[in-house]
Amino acid sequence: MPPQIFRLVILTAGVVGSYGIARMLMVPPTFGEHGSYRGAALEELAAAKPVFSGIKACDECHSEVLEELVKFEHKTISCESCHGPSRKHAADPDVTTPKGKFADSDCLRCHQSSPSRPVWLKQVDPNEHYRGDKRCSACHLPHQPNEKP
Ligand code: HEC
Ligand code: HEC
Ligand code: HEC
Ligand code: HEC
Repeated sequence: MPPQIFRLVILTAGVVGSYGIARMLMVPPTFGEHGSYRGAALEELAAAKPVFSGIKACDECHSEVLEELVKFEHKTISCESCHGPSRKHAADPDVTTPKGKFADSDCLRCHQSSPSRPVWLKQVDPNEHYRGDKRCSACHLPHQPNEKP
């Protein structure tokens, strides 16, 4: 075998070999058990504690808020999509209180104009929409966005 071919063979074996060793070291042990993902991930996800409790739980104590909410444009949004995961609060309101103070960015998370958003979702450019020192909630009621406060 000519020496340059021999060196090429050694080089190829080295590259393939180090790839094999790196793969052995880096692939998690349960990878591929069920498919092309980490098998242990299933148990880990199943063991995670739920943090959302759902709108029915909020209805038990805040039915007057829900009654308002469903009359207006925010009717499709769950309480917890604005107030954050509140399972602990629903289980015992004395222990935690959900987020109750909001910044404009909390509204703009959904309403900031962006070409990637569906056209039915009303969007505003905060640099043009009633620019001033007023916050969104000075002109819009979050539970009744069609009404003026
Ligand atoms: C068992 C009754 C109960 C349930 C269920 C419940 N809450 Fe409450 N919630 C309360 C009480 C009582 C307060 C007042 C506590 C306080 O002022 O510290 C309160 C206060 C709040 C506040 C006001 C926070 C503030 O800073 O003013 C928000 C927001 C809220 N709840 C959201 C929710 C959401 C969302 C759910 C559903 C996941 C929910 N609650 C479920 C009893 C309940
Ligand atoms: C679009 C976002 C949004 C949704 C959806 C929403 N809230 Fe609120 N909520 C707010 C904001 C913002 C405030 C603070 C109002 C303020 O500071 O004037 C608030 C205030 C509250 C308060 C404090 C007292 C009051 O009535 O102002 C309670 C309690 C509350 N929300 C419960 C709920 C419950 C229960 C639901 C579901 C039925 C819900 N919210 C859905 C944004 C939302
Ligand atoms: C989780 C996403 C979400 C958040 C957060 C949110 N909105 Fe909305 N909002 C919607 C959807 C969905 C609609 C109904 C479709 C539409 O009219 O664009 C809507 C509708 C509206 C409308 C139009 C009402 C009308 O007259 O047609 C206003 C105004 C509004 N929201 C203001 C706010 C304000 C102020 C906040 C912050 C307190 C807020 N929204 C937070 C999703 C959101
Ligand atoms: C000074 C009062 C004022 C402030 C502050 C304000 N808005 Fe408005 N907003 C209005 C009025 C009035 C309308 C309805 C007429 C219009 O579209 O100009 C409106 C309309 C909207 C609409 C519906 C737009 C449409 O296409 O029909 C959305 C969504 C909205 N506002 C979100 C917001 C958000 C988010 C903020 C905070 C960043 C905010 N607004 C701050 C007064 C205000």
